[in-house]
Amino acid sequence: MSNTAIKIPQTENPVLDVLKMRWSPRAFSEKAIDEKAIATLLEAASWAPSSMNAQPWRYIYAHKGTPAFEKMWDCLLPGNQPWVKNAAVLMLNIGYTFLDQFLVPNRHFMHDCGMANANLFTQATALDIYGHLLGGFDEAKTKLAFGLGEKEEPVCFVALGYLGEAESLEEPFRTRELAPRTRKGLSEIAQRL
Ligand SMILES: Cc1cc2nc3c(=O)[nH]c(=O)nc-3n(C[C@H](O)[C@H](O)[C@H](O)COP(=O)(O)O)c2cc1C
Repeated sequence: MSNTAIKIPQTENPVLDVLKMRWSPRAFSEKAIDEKAIATLLEAASWAPSSMNAQPWRYIYAHKGTPAFEKMWDCLLPGNQPWVKNAAVLMLNIGYTFLDQFLVPNRHFMHDCGMANANLFTQATALDIYGHLLGGFDEAKTKLAFGLGEKEEPVCFVALGYLGEAESLEEPFRTRELAPRTRKGLSEIAQRL
């Protein structure tokens, strides 16, 4: 059984295939992601809704084998570094914390960046590209390394690539790669009033 087969959930309702197919792998293949595909992912992200249409996001990215990739990888926490090194592309999603036109903080920036990332991931799935979001990074180091301004926040890194073999991973990542995914039941997350 491929690692994808065990990761696709059986849903009780007719959830879209593109949502069911997405999961967060740690094993990536050697195949590079071309710039056309990257542009498609970023354009998909740009079409996410956002509060006041402020689009409080930007992305910087680098391909594996470049100094910029190393610099990004170096900002990650040790638990992520062993497997992220094999990703084809690393992105940093940066959020704008301030609404400049109203001179007030934008309390929705994290939400809106999440929407953009969700779009990016859905588009990636449609292109057979897999992503793994990374909140485990050194925030201060990242801000310094990439010269973020005072109204900018590093939201998350994104590891992207084509799917690799679970066998390529060391433990405990290999076991996790082959484990089914779980979710809370609807009764736990929603209530009809
Ligand atoms: C904001 C955010 C931060 C995350 N940070 C990490 C991380 O640092 N390391 C990691 O291995 N996974 C990380 N993940 C991935 C989650 O663990 C994963 O999405 C979750 O276990 C559900 O699995 P699935 O994406 O395969 O459905 C993060 C996910 C999100 C949304």
